Amino acid sequence: HTEEYKPLRIILIGYMGAGKTTVGRALSRELNIPFYDLDWYIESRMRKTVKQIFDERGEEGFRMIEQSMLHEVAEFENVIISCGGGTPCFFDNMEYMNGQAETVYLKAETDVLYKHLLMGKSVRPLLLNKTADEVNLFIREQIKHREPFYTKAKHVLDVSLMDSYDKIQISVNQL
Ligand code: S3P
Repeated sequence: HTEEYKPLRIILIGYMGAGKTTVGRALSRELNIPFYDLDWYIESRMRKTVKQIFDERGEEGFRMIEQSMLHEVAEFENVIISCGGGTPCFFDNMEYMNGQAETVYLKAETDVLYKHLLMGKSVRPLLLNKTADEVNLFIREQIKHREPFYTKAKHVLDVSLMDSYDKIQISVNQL
């Protein structure tokens, strides 16, 4: 009996600012397999920025595109994928990802997320036109809603103390 060939797919999930892209790149280098950031994949396939898609089709339109692009990248073999903060929370995306891949929830304290998001340079449509206090409140509220989806991931990685590159390696070895 030969073992079934199982491609290695890792999908990183978690809130905006948790470091999905940073960790994804590091893992990709470490394991020497390609890295796809779902937002970038959407942008290159649609030839539009995520912000343009939100502006033109609203969040609902974005979520439909996001789901179909997720289905494309999650078919690739031997890949690391970082998805958007909202990806796991729409349709049956979380169940789908668990069926396709080793899902890893990058869990971070709200204060850490908040700091990363205020420092960050990327445009996040959901945070536009909000004051720092409003962003803080919004994150807290949204995480309450999203956490039940995130915790369905097969693995959890606490990235709050994010000099934790060691921890990333350990958890990958366990996959
Ligand atoms: C979103 C997160 C973003 C992007 C979009 C919506 C969200 O991705 O998909 O702006 O709903 O949390 P990042 O988590 O990579 O910022």
